[in-house]
Formats: sequence, structure tokens, C-alpha cells
Amino acid sequence: MSFARPLLRAVARPQVLAPIRGAARRTYSSAPAAKSNGGLYAGLAAAAAAGGAGYYLYTQGQLGPLNDKIARPTIFKPTFEDYQKVYNDIAEILEDNDFDDGSYGPILLRLGWHASGTYDKDTKTGGSNGATMRFAPESDHGANAGLKVARDRIESVKAKHPWISYSDLWILGAVCAIQEMGGPKIPYRPGRSDKDVAACTPDGRLPDAAQAQDHLRNIFYRMGFNDQEIVALAGAHALGRCHKDRSGYDGPWTFSPTMLTNDFYQLLLNEKWNWKKWNGPKQYEDKKTKSLMMLPADMALVNDKAFRKYVEIYAKDQDAFFKDFSAVCVKLFELGVPFAEGQESWTFKATTD
Ligand code: HEM
Repeated sequence: MSFARPLLRAVARPQVLAPIRGAARRTYSSAPAAKSNGGLYAGLAAAAAAGGAGYYLYTQGQLGPLNDKIARPTIFKPTFEDYQKVYNDIAEILEDNDFDDGSYGPILLRLGWHASGTYDKDTKTGGSNGATMRFAPESDHGANAGLKVARDRIESVKAKHPWISYSDLWILGAVCAIQEMGGPKIPYRPGRSDKDVAACTPDGRLPDAAQAQDHLRNIFYRMGFNDQEIVALAGAHALGRCHKDRSGYDGPWTFSPTMLTNDFYQLLLNEKWNWKKWNGPKQYEDKKTKSLMMLPADMALVNDKAFRKYVEIYAKDQDAFFKDFSAVCVKLFELGVPFAEGQESWTFKATTD
């Protein structure tokens, strides 16, 4: 069960009205509430709160001559169509020929992953519910370097749809990025609410690219994933690139960094990888073209026998990768989220459908 703060907004002639049941902090109406309606208001506020995330109270100011003095609240519950509109607006801001490889898709996916990947299953802290990366210290954690670019890019969509929480928006951004970059459908449930700075997670919960299998298992087992899921998640590195001024690493993993494919696994298995000779952190480069890269943490996926088994499966079978990638992304994006009971999953139409 999740408790979104009900938002009361004036439709016309706003004047401040006394808050309803403390929960409704931003309470406005065009007319004072008639005493006799107190029960109705309180009931609606309670219904909105109890209804969980996604309910918003609106008061209506223009009621006609009969009950001009009575502000009648109506409940706005964003529907699938409202979220599809947000999806479509995110899709609109993905492409930009002046940015990286032409798309903000990879960095929006990384934002959604880093928001979610702080989850700790034992303490039930972290995860995508909260969007605490808006605040320092979390925004300054080394692993999050560069993600301001993604947070800033998606701000125009938040401005257009202010009812959506940042935490739901960032995950919708990641879902949209995957689907728009040719990936599988990622079913989505809304229901995250934003938390304040006190909910920031400690540094060190996200993986360190310089390390290998033991570290990967420590980090991802803490979130509740198994070996197969770790390998499936890592296939996201078919997308995007490393940046010298962010992680210190440099270059893309594949030749098509704005299309989701199983190329990451194929390249990992079939190319010859050498240490790159350069003045930066230890990373691999492909022998043939010297234009692709692998992180030490990526290479652990073929050096470890249990991981390698899944790399081989996904390298051979893109459909198997897409199926497992979709399932594991849903799990990642929902870690620690207290969804309202009965909240169904939605699958958004991609602009390419
Ligand atoms: C397995 C452990 C992982 C490690 C050690 C790791 C590490 C990194 C590093 C160092 C970068 C480069 C950042 C930069 O310089 O801009 C990066 C980028 C990226 N990572 Fe990961 N990552 C991991 C898992 C994941 C997962 C699970 C996902 C998503 C499901 C993901 C998605 C991405 C994407 C899309 C980029 C490209 C971002 C861009 O182009 O700006 N990574 N990762």
C-alpha cells in the first residue's frame, strides 16, 4: 500500500482553504467548504489517500448558479492513457544528433537503473521509490557521475505533467528508452512517491566496474538477483558508452549503441579482447578495431563459469535475451516499491509499433 500525497488544485479562482485531514498540504479551492460537506471532503481525502499512489484530488470552482458557494472535489486518477502521453513525450526528447550517439535513451536507462539499483533487500531501503538522487549526497556519488544530464533532460516532461512523481517518471523514462531503442516491451506499474533527502542511500551500493564476479554477486545478490538475472541485466551494455569525464572509462561496447541487441554477449564471447594501453583506468579494447570496449566487470561474465553459461545462451538467442531482460528489468524497477493493491501493469505502445 502506498500513500501518495493528495494534491488539491484549483480549477478556477483559487483561494486557500483549510487543509483536509493534514494529509492534503497543498489545499486550494474557489470557495470555502460548507460545513455540511465536511464529511464528504474528509471522506474523499481519505479515499484518495487510501486509494494509494495515482489519486489526486481536484476541487471544482465553477459549479453553476445553484451551488456556487460549494466547491465540489473530484478525484483525478491518472489512467493508462495519461501515462501513455507521458511516455510519448519522453519518446519525443530522446533523439538529438548533437548528443553522444544521437540519443538520450542510454543515459535515461542508466538513470532508471541507478535509481533502482540502490535497493537492499534486508533493510528494504533504497530502490526506485523516492527518486532521492535529486539530492546530494546521492547525486554526488561517484557511480552517478553524469546522470544530471538525464535528470535535466527529462525535466521538461515533468513540467508538462506535474502530477507524476519523479520516481515514477524516471522509471517510465527507462521503460520508454528500452522500447524506443528496439528492445522488448517492459510492463510498468505506477505507484512510486518521492522522498526527501533523509532517504538518500549510502555510497557504495552500485557496482564498481573495476571489480569482478565476487563483487558483482555481492552487489546484485543484495538486491535479490541471481546469476542468470545478473547476466541478463548486463546486456544493457549493448547500449550507450562510457565517458572519460564521468566514469573515467571510454567508448561504446557495441557498434549500434542506440539499438538494443544481444551484440554485447556476442562480442564478449567472439572477439579477442586486450588491455587498452592508455593513461586511464584498466579497460579492454577489441583487437580487431580497437574501437569497442569492455569493463573488467563485463569480462567477469565470461571468466566466471556460472555466468558464462548465460552469456552463451543470450549470444545465441536474442529472443531469449529479450524475454529475460524484460522480466529482470520489471523486477529491478519495482524493487522496494509499495504498489497499491490491485495496481495493474501497463504495456505502453512504442512510437514504432
Ligand atoms: C554489472 C554491473 C555494472 C557495471 C559495473 C556498470 C558500469 C557502467 C559504467 C562504468 C558505465 C559508464 C558510465 C559513463 O562513463 O558514462 C556504464 C554505462 C551504462 N550502463 Fe552500466 N554497469 C553495470 C550494470 C548496468 C545495468 C544493470 C544496466 C541497465 C539495466 C546498465 C546500463 C548502462 C547504460 C545504458 C550505460 C550507458 C550510459 C550512457 O551512454 O551514458 N548498466 N555502466
